[in-house]
Amino acid sequence: GAEADLAGRHVVVSAGGTREPLDPVRFLGNRSSGKQGYALARTAAARGARVTLIAANAALPDPAGVDVVPVGTAVQLREAVLKAAADADAVVMAAAVADFRPATYAAGKIKKKDGLEPEPITLVRNPDILAEIAGDRPRAGQVVVGFAAETDDVLANGRAKLERKGCDLLVVNEVGERKTFGAEENEAVVLGSDGSETPVPHGPKEALADIVWNLVSRRLA
Ligand code: PMT
Repeated sequence: GAEADLAGRHVVVSAGGTREPLDPVRFLGNRSSGKQGYALARTAAARGARVTLIAANAALPDPAGVDVVPVGTAVQLREAVLKAAADADAVVMAAAVADFRPATYAAGKIKKKDGLEPEPITLVRNPDILAEIAGDRPRAGQVVVGFAAETDDVLANGRAKLERKGCDLLVVNEVGERKTFGAEENEAVVLGSDGSETPVPHGPKEALADIVWNLVSRRLA
């Protein structure tokens, strides 16, 4: 059985991808399935933690013994994460959060107009939830973990992102149309604010999740 090294701890995990609505039938979204975040939630529960899983549009079954909070947009994800983070020992942001959302929401379906070019879509910034939590630390000593989905210059971009966001650990994984998103397996390097680099070989998303919890557990001790 798993070691109960997270017993008595409350951990918050975000999973899935936000959807930013344009009108009642359309949204801007991304390819996250939620599998990596759900694997983090399952493994934390197996190690004894009380787990709150903030799930953005994931079509996956609720993991046993985990408190699941479904959300749609980045703004909803922020509210749910901040609420749960108030008494959390660790916050792990595995969700793919839209950096931008459409500036306006059309109450009725947007229609083609004969002979006219389509209207451009204007975007506005979404809140950066990871940077906000890493900066404020809702609870003293809280460990804050981010994920970085990169397509190139993975390590250099990851190190810059870790510093910009101010988190303790950043899990850098490479993504593509057929890589990581929706897959059962992942491969990553976990960067630490202490300068550490922990390579995680290609394997099940649970194996990466366990390595993340090892690093979190060490920082909580
Ligand atoms: O769900 P799967 O199909 O299993 O795929 C897993 C995954 C690829 C989605 C996951 O492993 C992953 O990399 N998640 C983070 C994706 C992402 O949004 O990366 P980013 O580089 O855009 O963001 C960096 C970090 O900031 C992330 O922790 C993100 O949650 C957070 N963020 C980003 C934007 C924003 N407005 N607020 C945030 O908190």
